[in-house]
Amino acid sequence: MKKLSLAIALLFAPLVAQAWPWSDDMANQISVKPQASPNKAAPGATLFPSRSVPAPGTATSSITVKDADAAVKLANPVAADAKSVETGHQLFTVYCTPCHGTSGTGDGKVGEKLILRPFDLTSDTLAEQPDGYIFGMMTFGGAVMPVYANDLSPTERWHVINYIRKGLRNAPAAQAAASAQ
Ligand code: HEC
Repeated sequence: MKKLSLAIALLFAPLVAQAWPWSDDMANQISVKPQASPNKAAPGATLFPSRSVPAPGTATSSITVKDADAAVKLANPVAADAKSVETGHQLFTVYCTPCHGTSGTGDGKVGEKLILRPFDLTSDTLAEQPDGYIFGMMTFGGAVMPVYANDLSPTERWHVINYIRKGLRNAPAAQAAASAQ
C-alpha cells in the first residue's frame, strides 16, 4: 500500500512542478511575446515587411508639412460637404471628445484632469484662425495636446477640421455654451 501511494505521488510530482514537457508548450511559441522585440523572436526579421500597409487600409503618411508654422499656410483641400462633416464628426467623437468634450468646449472627462485645460474649439479666437492652424495642432500637437499625425491621415484631419467649423460650432451644445457666457 505504501509503495502504491509513493508511486502515485511520484506520478504527480512533475505536474506540481509544472514540469511535464508539454506544460509550457502554449507559452513557448514562435509568436512574439507581449512587450518583446520581434527581432528577439526571429533575429533579423522585422514585424512588418517594408512598405506593407494594414489591410484593408492605406499607409498614413504622418507628416506632410515641416512644422506648425508651415501648416498654418496650408489650404484645406477637402470640401466641407455634409459627408465630410459627418466623417469628421465620427473621428472627432473618437479622438477629440475625451479632452475637448462632445461640445468641444473642453469639458471632456480626460480634459478635466489636465493641468492645462483643453482649449475651447468653439471659441471666436479659433474661428478666426485659418484651417491650417488646426491641421498643425493635430499634426504636431501642443504643450499637452497629443500628436495625431499617426492616428489620422491628412484627409481625415481635414474632415475633423470641417466638422469643427461646420458641425461643432453650430451644434446646439456650443450655442448653449456661448449664450451662457
Ligand atoms: C489628451 C487631451 C486632448 C485630446 C485628446 C485632444 N486635445 Fe486638443 N488640446 C488639448 C490641450 C490641453 C490644448 C491646449 C493647448 C496645448 O496643449 O498646447 C489643446 C488645444 C487644441 C487646439 C488649439 C485651440 C486654440 O484655440 O488655439 C486645437 C485646434 C485642438 N486642440 C484640436 C484638437 C483636435 C482636433 C483633437 C482630436 C483630433 C484634439 N484636439 C484632441 C488637449 C487635447
